Order: sequence, then C-alpha cells, then structure tokens
Amino acid sequence: MNMTLPQTYPHLDQMQPWNDRLHLLECLSVIEEAPNVKTFTFRSDNQNWFRYEPGQFMTFELPVQPEAVLRTFTLSSSPSRPFTIAVTAKAQDSSIGARWMLDHLTPGARLKAFGPLGDFSMRKHPGEKYLFISAGSGITPMMSMTRWMHDCAPQSDVNFVTCARRPSDIIFRRELEYLTSCMPNLKLAFLIKEHEMGQVWTGIRGRFEEARLPLLSPDFRDRTIFCCGPETFMRDVRTMLEASGFDMTHYHQESFGPAAEPVLPMMDAISTEAVERSAMVSFSMSGMEVPCAPGETILKAARGAGIRIAAACESGLCGTCKVMKISGEVDMDHNGGILDDEIDEGYVLACCSKPLGNVEIEA
Ligand code: FES
Repeated sequence: MNMTLPQTYPHLDQMQPWNDRLHLLECLSVIEEAPNVKTFTFRSDNQNWFRYEPGQFMTFELPVQPEAVLRTFTLSSSPSRPFTIAVTAKAQDSSIGARWMLDHLTPGARLKAFGPLGDFSMRKHPGEKYLFISAGSGITPMMSMTRWMHDCAPQSDVNFVTCARRPSDIIFRRELEYLTSCMPNLKLAFLIKEHEMGQVWTGIRGRFEEARLPLLSPDFRDRTIFCCGPETFMRDVRTMLEASGFDMTHYHQESFGPAAEPVLPMMDAISTEAVERSAMVSFSMSGMEVPCAPGETILKAARGAGIRIAAACESGLCGTCKVMKISGEVDMDHNGGILDDEIDEGYVLACCSKPLGNVEIEA
C-alpha cells in the first residue's frame, strides 16, 4: 500500500463529512504508547473529514478469525484536527479485539466502523472547571477533551488525575507534561501502584482514595467531573464522591459493559391491544417477513430469522445496529446511540426498537 503524500490536497470546505454508512476507515499510522497500548490513526477511504465531540467513541468491525467481532473504543483524537481520527487501544490478557488490533492492524488496512457517538464529552456537559479522573486506557476520552481544549480553549481549568500500575504504563505522559506548558490552568497528577527498575519516580504512589481527593483537587466540589476506567475503579470513585457530599449531577462516567440480556416485559404489563396486534417485520433486503412478539426488539426478531444486523452494546448506546425503517412505527428506548436528525431521516436502533404494528426494515 502506497502511503506517500496524496496527489490531491483538498481543503476542509471542499470535503464532505465522513459517513459510517458509506465510507470505511483506512489505517494511517500505528504508534506504541506503553506496554500493550497502541494508538491507531485513521483517515477516510474517501477523503472525508470527521465531525464529532471530544470524548466520543466508535465501534469497529474487526476481522478476527473465525468470526468478525465488534469492539467499541473511545477516541483519543480531537475534532479540532478533523482530517484524521484516532483510538488508543489497550490489550488485556483476555482481549480478543484489542489484541487483534495490536498484532495485525497496520497502515493501509481498511475497516468498517460505526459512529462516532456518545454523551461523554465536556461539550455535552459543560462546566466552569473540570476534574478528569481515569485509570489505564480510561485516559483516552480525557486526552481527546484535553487536546480539544489545547487547540480551542487553552485557558480551560482542568485537574487531570490518572492512575496506572507503573510509570511506564502511563499513557500520553510526555504529551500531557508538554501540554501543561501550553495550558496555564491544566494541573496533572499521576498515581502509580508500583515502582519499576530504572525509572525515577517523584510522583504519588498508591491508590486513588478518599483522603487524597482534596489534595489532588482541593476544589473538586466546584468542578464537573468526568471519570473513565475499569468498572470497579469507577464504582469506587462514585462511592467516594457520594460520601464527600459531591453533587452527583455534575458527575459523568463512561463505560462499555457487556451487552445486557434483553429483558422482556411482564405479560401483564403488555397492553391487550399490543397482544392483539401481532407485529410483522419485513426485512426488505433479505426478502423475509417474520413475526415479532410483543415486547421483542427488531434485533431479536432478525436473529430469530437468521438475518444478520451488526450489534455491539445491545443497549441503545453505541449506534452499531442502526437500520433504516422504511415504514411503520416503533417504540425506541435508546441511550444516545442515535442522533435526532438520523431519527428524522428514518433510522432506528434495532436493539432497542419494538414494533408498534407492522414495520418494514432495510436489512
Ligand atoms: S447495538 Fe449498540 S445501539 Fe444497538
């Protein structure tokens, strides 16, 4: 694959925004950030620019053998640099998708991806001052937001706290240290659990705990807090903040838990009218028409008929299962995985849309 300078050099006003239904991502570069952590930068396969909020995420279809998997990663790049988009992935021992990326994804490779989407952004939850708390690869959305602030609002007041096992595990350490010289109100704190041979460490050692909070961010109660990391870490932070009397309406966290089993409503909660109206779902591309039980989602009906609709979170969050509704009405209970203008265009999320009568779906 020839990755030299492109022959044409379009400006932003000559380009269209990237569209996950039409375009692929092409890997432009791979950078090693820390042990088992790499940043993958992508451009559009069609010279598009990327429109998103700092802190949002994308879902990637990864050609893992024997079967492709869908994996969601928060973006570490900033929309203030809209020609490319980047994710920073950490491969744990049990990782399948992230491990495939670290071992196999190289410049020139093309991937299908869905998004960007998500609500975890200081652009969606603005505050006067911020406290970013992260652990491990949970630093990525914080980095996206901090890069955006560096480019567009360098006076932003941010206390940036991140936790890692060892000094060499701190992702983006050098860039963050550099950013403090450009952003007068950016204050960094790195917490590590273990020293390591050959590394001088003058920073804080130990866990992120209640007694440390006022030392790391004395005015934390006046800040809008964003937290990202392993589920147990975020639970501890939440507990700590609640105990301190923090107003939790100013607390936001990012998590991508495993897909929850869809819960069917209790029979007595289903209206008689709904039972009587046995919905049929027509899948126009597959040419199949299948019944959909009351309370059942379009995704479940599709799977029951062997029709493949890509899905990742299965909770209306990631937007992967977005499909065009050609006709009919649905009850869609989503969690931010679809934009209002996409709904206006006729799109629905199959994982959280229940037919209200017969519907026709493009799948
Ligand atoms: S699978 Fe994530 S929104 Fe439906």
